[in-house]
Amino acid sequence: MKRILIDTDPGVDDALALIYAFKSPDIKVEAITTVSGNVNLETVTRNLLKILNILDLTAFPIIAKGEAQPLVKPPVDAEDVHGKDGLGNISELLNSTGTLKYDTADCQFTDQSADDLILEMVDSYPDELIIVALGPLTNISKAIQKDLSRFRKVHSLYLMGGVFTEYGNITTNAEFNVFVDPHAAHEVFNSGVPIHIAPLDVTHQVKLTGDRLQTEVFGREDVISHFLTDSTKAVMEFYRENVGFYGFHIHDALPIGMLNHPELFRSVDAHVQVETEGELTSGMTVADLRKQNVIDPNAKVYVGVDADSFLDLFFKTILT
Ligand code: BDR
Ligand code: CA
Repeated sequence: MKRILIDTDPGVDDALALIYAFKSPDIKVEAITTVSGNVNLETVTRNLLKILNILDLTAFPIIAKGEAQPLVKPPVDAEDVHGKDGLGNISELLNSTGTLKYDTADCQFTDQSADDLILEMVDSYPDELIIVALGPLTNISKAIQKDLSRFRKVHSLYLMGGVFTEYGNITTNAEFNVFVDPHAAHEVFNSGVPIHIAPLDVTHQVKLTGDRLQTEVFGREDVISHFLTDSTKAVMEFYRENVGFYGFHIHDALPIGMLNHPELFRSVDAHVQVETEGELTSGMTVADLRKQNVIDPNAKVYVGVDADSFLDLFFKTILT
């Protein structure tokens, strides 16, 4: 069983990743920290509570609200993709009885800051805790800044971020999570902990089409199926208009898949660096993936996935 802490900025694909993690039999979600990214901190934190509510959990993980701003740069959001509420504009949907269709779970937050919770969880499960980072890396970098030697007891860090051999999705060269807080990403890649990266190069290989989703949820009346249908409509429309297919890339679900089914993925060892300052290239992740046997690798960069098997297993897990 893998013990994980999820750092996240929900986000429609973050929501799918959270559902996937909680439904994975070999994963135990011990803690969650939120970070501003797709939308502001208050909204992503409220979204987390909505997601936890549909999961109908018997016990909640420890939750801390994290950083509202990147380390240095002003915040940048992704409302155009995820909707104004960050969850495909489902927040005001009502049931036939007039109550909110997606309400927030009634769970407590720890008083600690996210970086303190991260360090405390590493202390609790030394050399065992896996951190899964699905948003800008601000909280993680704060934990590193506070106490690198404690942080280094983490087992590994799985993150969605970066792009190496394709165009970016926020600028020509940068992927959103790294672009929003490149200084944080720089700290993380220099921390010396084992890092597994799902960059756009691999997440773009998995396309969840509207047709596939409809087939999966057809005839189902459970709350997760409703949530999948409702929360993904706006992002699929965005993709139809801007990307060229009706569907979307479920980026943040990939690191959970990498933990569940490593055999479906191909990775290369690389030395990854982050451009923090470039006027045109801020947030660019730089590594030569052609090099074999890099002397000083700091990350495993995932570059290939059996996308059909991944999607089959993803749906099998979240809809059982
Ligand atoms: C990443 O950016 C966010 O919009 C998504 O949630 C994902 O974490 C993809 O570039
Ligand atoms: Ca995210």
